[in-house]
Amino acid sequence: MSAAEQLNAGNTFEFAKPTPIASVSLRDAEISIGPILPEDTGPMFLWMNDVAAANLDFAYRPVDWMAFKAWSEELSRSSTATLFAIRKVSQLKPIGFVLFKNIQAVHRSAELGIRIGDESERSKGYGRAATALALLYAWNHLNLKRVHLQVFAHNARALRAYRAGGFIEEGRLRQAAFIDGKWADIVLMASLNPAG
Ligand SMILES: CC(C)(COP(=O)(O)OP(=O)(O)OC[C@H]1O[C@@H](n2cnc3c(N)ncnc32)[C@H](O)[C@@H]1OP(=O)(O)O)[C@@H](O)C(=O)NCCC(=O)NCCS
Repeated sequence: MSAAEQLNAGNTFEFAKPTPIASVSLRDAEISIGPILPEDTGPMFLWMNDVAAANLDFAYRPVDWMAFKAWSEELSRSSTATLFAIRKVSQLKPIGFVLFKNIQAVHRSAELGIRIGDESERSKGYGRAATALALLYAWNHLNLKRVHLQVFAHNARALRAYRAGGFIEEGRLRQAAFIDGKWADIVLMASLNPAG
């Protein structure tokens, strides 16, 4: 029964409550970015092996469980990378992840990657919101000056989400990647800390 139907039927409508993990994480009204929990490992593993999404992100190679485990253990020890789960504030199950890598102390820069895991959760504004939260984390907690990323030129949705989240385009690498049988241009995007 929808919320409107419940109200019309005289029932009390229960608003979704924030999960504890979302309420202690960086968040806006709808989503949070926070620590990975043990139960997030399954979805993360499946997302990394999603061929259709990989074609929008990097050259596809299956990631087996041993490689995934080694990658995640190395990541958790790394001082130059940080991984967040993206959650709706009312739901514990993750909907995607944010990854900072190549965090450079001297240059105060890092590279950002964002994935919304399931197609059913994409195009709802969560990617844009996660990008904006990631930049706040970069400026206010990592004290970075510059965050950059690369996106395939044919990935119109990602370009729009990153623009809306605070990135601007800086250039294009022509025919720089071979993806699913075709050459793709790569667009370079970056965001600079407004406080310098
Ligand atoms: C890229 C990604 C993170 C964006 O997150 P998202 O939650 O889907 O994006 P948002 O809903 O926040 O924003 C999408 C924008 O693209 C627009 N859009 C949606 N579908 C589109 C399409 N097929 N073509 C062009 N624009 C589209 C939306 O209108 C929105 O723009 P607006 O805010 O100006 O209206 C997410 O889609 C994703 O993980 N995709 C799979 C993998 C991928 O593409 N990774 C990118 C690697 S760089």
